[in-house]
Amino acid sequence: MIVEFLAQPLTILDHHYQQLKDDGQDVINGLTQKPKTLPAKYFYDDPGSLLFEKICELPEYYPTRTEAWILNQYADEIAEITNCCELIELGSGSSTKTQSLLTAYQKIAGSCRYLPIDVSGGILKTSVLQLQEKYPDITVHGLLGTYEQALAHLQTNYLQSRMLFFLGSSLGNFNHEECDIFLTQVSRTLQLGDFFLLGIDLQKPKEILEPAYNDSQNVTAAFNLNMLSHLNWRFQGNFDINLFKHQAIYNQVDHQIEMHLHCQKSHWVNLEVLDLKVHFAEGESILTEISRKFDLTKMSQQLDSKGLKTIKTWTDEKGWFGLILCQVG
Ligand code: AVJ
Repeated sequence: MIVEFLAQPLTILDHHYQQLKDDGQDVINGLTQKPKTLPAKYFYDDPGSLLFEKICELPEYYPTRTEAWILNQYADEIAEITNCCELIELGSGSSTKTQSLLTAYQKIAGSCRYLPIDVSGGILKTSVLQLQEKYPDITVHGLLGTYEQALAHLQTNYLQSRMLFFLGSSLGNFNHEECDIFLTQVSRTLQLGDFFLLGIDLQKPKEILEPAYNDSQNVTAAFNLNMLSHLNWRFQGNFDINLFKHQAIYNQVDHQIEMHLHCQKSHWVNLEVLDLKVHFAEGESILTEISRKFDLTKMSQQLDSKGLKTIKTWTDEKGWFGLILCQVG
């Protein structure tokens, strides 16, 4: 049983790619409300994940390289403090940054397991196979599914000394309420003594933030528009991406980047699988993403209120990005 599980490169959680009864209900809800919104998870089909990889390499997009620097600098220390044997990553993507951690754990651990979790099957499978080859002493197994599916799946296991990690400031996609629910779920999934490692983008001037989401090569624009192409193939839709324009602005009151798709012309869109016909007015926009920018101390307090006690925090020299290691206590 265990051997069979380990021999597979990945497990599909809840048959993610099959049409589930309520699949797409979030799209219906988002497009029938005013103002229109769409969940950020729909960015990440395989083409979208590749575009995100390109974003991470843009000169204007500082978060990835800043976090990678912190991880690289302190991976040995994190491995030493936690000394755990099961590493679980939510939204792992290509797992590029994670390699500093895997290298550090491979040095100290006798037997260690790495479970990357992502909604993009292509990128997950490729990275699992590559990592397994590169880190023969670590058992690598991918879980294909959403955060909710993964957290629900993990709850049923009782393996010891875990570290769950959530990097890249993906937490920033959640509003206050969603963030609270998510952290409660994280804390419930972990057992006493387990660790949670969180990477968050910190508050900084608009002049640095806005270019990071409006890059000169228009990769972010393509990434944003790709969400509509994803909905087209997934739900048999007829979005015309030429009728929408990418927009990203920093809301200084709420400390968040707000990413929109701005409709250029009044028209109707049909999503066959969802049995949905939606009207778009000229000038109307869809909010596709919020990317919150955090305060390290406040986040640490919020984690604390969830029973996730901060052990140590790290930042880069400019204080642009933060990493928080906490323990369930
Ligand atoms: C992966 C959600 C952290 O908010 O910065 C990058 C996604 N959107 N450029 C972010 C994103 C536009 C990214 N997160």
